[in-house]
Amino acid sequence: MIELKNITLVYEGRKVLQEFSLKIPPKERLVILGKSGSGKTTLLRLIAGFVAPQKGEIIIDKKVVAKEGKILIPPDKRAIGMVFQDLALWPHMNVEENIAFGLKIQKIPQKIRIEKVQEMLQLIGLNGYEKRHIDQLSGGQQQRVALARALAVSPKVLLMDEPLSSLDPELNRRLRKEIIRLHEVLGFTLVYVTHSEEEAEEIGERKIILK
Ligand SMILES: Nc1ncnc2c1ncn2[C@@H]1O[C@H](COP(=O)(O)OP(=O)(O)OP(=O)(O)O)[C@@H](O)[C@H]1O
Ligand SMILES: [Mg+2]
Repeated sequence: MIELKNITLVYEGRKVLQEFSLKIPPKERLVILGKSGSGKTTLLRLIAGFVAPQKGEIIIDKKVVAKEGKILIPPDKRAIGMVFQDLALWPHMNVEENIAFGLKIQKIPQKIRIEKVQEMLQLIGLNGYEKRHIDQLSGGQQQRVALARALAVSPKVLLMDEPLSSLDPELNRRLRKEIIRLHEVLGFTLVYVTHSEEEAEEIGERKIILK
């Protein structure tokens, strides 16, 4: 369970979130909607642990992870995966190295890393692409690698920031279904930010709109 309790977050004197509270039960697929600048990415960054709220607290699985300006549990200790708005894949690494990145940081042995990469490539339908460089992939393939990289560490929570917005409608629809399927197979909590009503309708078990 993720709980945000009376969060106030101020950036340079401007209140992005004010007295904001939200509970996200385990395995829910929650969609966050809202205009540009309404604080959607900021909300994900709070949950991931890249930023702390000036007021209020964030509780994950009964542990206070951030409180009143302080990050108590850092991002790498929160079992959270994130797919960023700009993907942020490593351009100097190939597909395999990108997917294994988080596992390497966790000092998982190489043999297990290789197995995990194969499992992820299977899941996202990119078998045989392990040695390809990121700039040799289409946008949709890059999107899937970003998804695989986030899922490789078996996160309990997956945060996705407009992950499909740059794709054509056909690929967008396919990957939407893929995300729902992966959620059903792997059973993580999904917090999904989008501007698209259509994506929100299909992916969200619950939707909230940031003002
Ligand atoms: N690091 C930062 N420093 C100062 N202000 C910031 C910072 N990050 C975001 N902001 C401001 O906070 C507000 C919320 O930004 P945020 O990125 O959360 O919006 P968003 O809802 O994700 O928008 P979009 O739909 O365009 O991605 C904006 O006014 C933005 O300019
Ligand atoms: Mg954003």
